[in-house]
Amino acid sequence: MSQNILVTGGTGYIGSHTIIELLNAGYNVICVDNLSNSKIEVLDRIAQLSPSEKLKFYQLDIQDRAALSQVFSENNIDAVIHFAAFKAVGESVLHPLKYYHNNIIGSLVLLEVMQKYQVKKIVFSSSAAVYGEPAATPIREDFPTFATNPYGFSKLVFEQVLDDLRKADDTWCILKLRYFNPVGAHSSGLIGEDPNGIPNNLMPYISQVAVGKCKYLNIFGNDYPTPDGTAIRDYIHVVDLAIGHLLALDYLNKHAKSLLTLNLGTGMGHSVLEVIHAFEEACGKKIPYKFVSKRSGDVAKCYADPTLANQLLSWKTQFSLLQMCCDSWNWQSKNPNGYA
Ligand code: NAD
Ligand code: UD1
Repeated sequence: MSQNILVTGGTGYIGSHTIIELLNAGYNVICVDNLSNSKIEVLDRIAQLSPSEKLKFYQLDIQDRAALSQVFSENNIDAVIHFAAFKAVGESVLHPLKYYHNNIIGSLVLLEVMQKYQVKKIVFSSSAAVYGEPAATPIREDFPTFATNPYGFSKLVFEQVLDDLRKADDTWCILKLRYFNPVGAHSSGLIGEDPNGIPNNLMPYISQVAVGKCKYLNIFGNDYPTPDGTAIRDYIHVVDLAIGHLLALDYLNKHAKSLLTLNLGTGMGHSVLEVIHAFEEACGKKIPYKFVSKRSGDVAKCYADPTLANQLLSWKTQFSLLQMCCDSWNWQSKNPNGYA
């Protein structure tokens, strides 16, 4: 019998890619999302790429306990993949209460409802943001954690909630996945990242420069202690990340009582200039840029040691930086205005 997986935040960027992989692997998916940062059109695109008769959608806020309970009572849920959260770092600094409220309260309500219905398997979306300014690279899961902004703290706090819950009740199975920098899009170009307004993150910004929506890219800092002076990150293809979630579910199914934290990154760092050059190769255009001062809170180098995930999940990333850029460009050029 196929398992029933509840995916919160499933119409968002990473959730939509993960749902396609889940459906194609034979899972039944129950997606809940309040569409605060995603569009309903995503569901039609998912239907073009996977067996959509196995997908149910509920538009709801996970803070709405009654609505969420109804979903659990109508569906025999086996496990939860929890993506729903706000994720813009800058906005979290300006509106900390909004971020703590949504990311913490929403997640607590989810756990309480799960407990009520005796669903005790969860895969949680954490972030490399929990490493703050890392002492060294590559970053291992046992490095000290700290956050430099409310978004990062909201992830850190919820990681602690999960640890405490598992300590109190060892029948919970918990996998916390710390993502590095998800980029790229499904190879069809039908789904991809569709940020509201001006993008905050590098790849969507470069894509919008390439498609003519933004004039040039501001590169934040050119005097970092890196080979070309620009900052280094671990960009990971969103489909590699999505597949990591399927393997995480397999792991939870095979290892009762787990509590595990894993980095999902490629283990390779690329500078901003390297990303620009790869994108130029992908789209066949020049990406104009200017150097401006560093963005506050940015670190020089952040890339994962993914050995644990490689070993425990038998997970390996497949996609190169060039492929990430090709797929981002394919999505952006076919959908210059996103899903609109
Ligand atoms: P996203 O904004 O595209 O998707 C999140 C989805 O959750 C959206 O569809 C939004 O409408 C929904 N949502 C938010 N609050 C909700 C609520 N209270 N109830 C119901 N739905 C709600 O973001 P994403 O990039 O797909 O990120 C998914 C998860 O991964 C988030 O938890 C994010 O913090 C985490 N993460 C993302 C990145 C990244 O760079 N994209 C990196 C590290 C971690
Ligand atoms: C961002 C989040 C981080 C989250 C991570 C996961 C911020 C401050 N941090 O990290 O919490 O865990 O995403 O995806 O948002 N850059 C430019 N010009 C731009 C945009 C970015 O030069 O217009 C540079 C940045 O300085 C950085 C790199 O590109 O060096 C990547 O930036 P971005 O895509 O925003 O990701 P992070 O800052 O790594």
